[in-house]
Amino acid sequence: MKPHAFQINRRRFVKTAAAITAATGVPGWFLELEEAHAAESRPAGPNDRPGIALVGCGGQGRGDCGGASQFADVLAVCDVDQSHAESAARQFTRDGRVPKIYNDFRKLMERDDIHAIINGTPDHWHTFVNMLAARTGKDIYTEKPLTLTIDEGKRLVKTVRDNKRIVQVGSQQRSDRNFRLACELTRNGRIGTLKHMIVGLPTGLVEGPFPELPVPAGLNWDYYVGQAPMVPYKGVNCHGNFRWWYGFSGGQMTDWGAHHNDIAQWGNGTERSGPVSIDGKSLTALIPGGYETAANYRIDCKYANGVTMTILDEHTVSDQNVVGGGKTTPNGVQFIGTDGWIFVARGNIQASSEELLRKPLPEGAVRLYQSNHHMGNFFESMRSRKDPICDVEIGHRSITVAHLGVISMRMNKPVQWNPDTEQFVGTHAREANQWLARDQRKPYDYSFIA
Ligand SMILES: NC(=O)c1ccc[n+]([C@@H]2O[C@H](COP(=O)([O-])OP(=O)(O)OC[C@H]3O[C@@H](n4cnc5c(N)ncnc54)[C@H](O)[C@@H]3O)[C@@H](O)[C@H]2O)c1
Repeated sequence: MKPHAFQINRRRFVKTAAAITAATGVPGWFLELEEAHAAESRPAGPNDRPGIALVGCGGQGRGDCGGASQFADVLAVCDVDQSHAESAARQFTRDGRVPKIYNDFRKLMERDDIHAIINGTPDHWHTFVNMLAARTGKDIYTEKPLTLTIDEGKRLVKTVRDNKRIVQVGSQQRSDRNFRLACELTRNGRIGTLKHMIVGLPTGLVEGPFPELPVPAGLNWDYYVGQAPMVPYKGVNCHGNFRWWYGFSGGQMTDWGAHHNDIAQWGNGTERSGPVSIDGKSLTALIPGGYETAANYRIDCKYANGVTMTILDEHTVSDQNVVGGGKTTPNGVQFIGTDGWIFVARGNIQASSEELLRKPLPEGAVRLYQSNHHMGNFFESMRSRKDPICDVEIGHRSITVAHLGVISMRMNKPVQWNPDTEQFVGTHAREANQWLARDQRKPYDYSFIA
């Protein structure tokens, strides 16, 4: 295996660092620290290539598997749509070796030569695939959102820990230095005491109703729908667009929310905990028979440490916004403290003053887990058996924040949450606790992977 991309020589480092600083605002002192850390990383040996399989061969799964194929041999691919499986098999054919095609992931999991899986299925299948992979001794790179429900997350964390598996959740922003810098500065009091966080997510879609269509040849629609209530195939409720349908997902709250809530939790130091109160409002009526997840929304949360957080779609504005000019809520995370603020997004970090970013953190400052290559970090963890940067519990806790928001929106009531017991408490607890799990359509309940 080649040394990881981040192990670069000094001269190239200096040039690269200057370019990164110019393009993204990440200061030189932060990049120097990174280089020192990277130099300690151990390159893998040339024979150190595990066998892997891709489950869910859509856009993201194939992208992830392309990254993973630098580190491992793709022995199998699996999809409930034969055409997706076939094109993935073509894509990952190497030196005449064609990955074996499966249409049922349970068969693939029987193989001992597959050491890890890449899970690129839609959200409502993540847990089933991951739980069986963990039980059959495979490590897992799984796409976010980690789960469909909070109950799934609790079960999955236990299964992964009981079976001592490595799980990297595909919240790749954790391996992006902009986000780590923002969180590290916030955690070290650079903006004074953190008071408020604003999470900006895309606006959802208000469209429909949509007509029923014939199921395309080669797509097993019953299997695709899986645990969700059966619905007719409409094209727009399948590949790529499944995320706007409540049976399969939670809309933008769980899609982009998986990424930015994760960062907010990291910066707040609550990555293995969660908020204690959540008040979610869906602000736009949806069209009957159309997309089912919130388009415009506002979720107000509070943490036990007193920090508050507002999650907004980009067309909904808070009077506490420090970016967006009062007209939009930009996609990203705003950390607002007593002495300043930081805004971080993909490829962009800004602060209330230049100095706030430029001044190095002192020795002894809190240093966060460093990874600059999300997939590389997964394979390093497979070797070291140490947790990767976005382990299963972090992934579960990050997506719990989004699930809590969705639950409060769908109940149209504020709810209180105990992050220690992972139960709702207070006024609407009895009703809210019914939302921790969903009914699973047979045969796609947990017995499917027993
Ligand atoms: N990390 C990121 O930035 C990022 C970006 C895009 C998507 N994603 C995530 O990746 C996942 C896939 O998204 P996508 O856009 O590639 O969707 P997609 O619809 O293009 O692909 C999903 C694939 O899974 C297949 N599938 C469905 N049920 C299956 C099952 N039971 N077994 C095997 N295959 C099954 C589908 O047929 C399809 O080929 C989603 O959970 C999404 O949230 C993450």
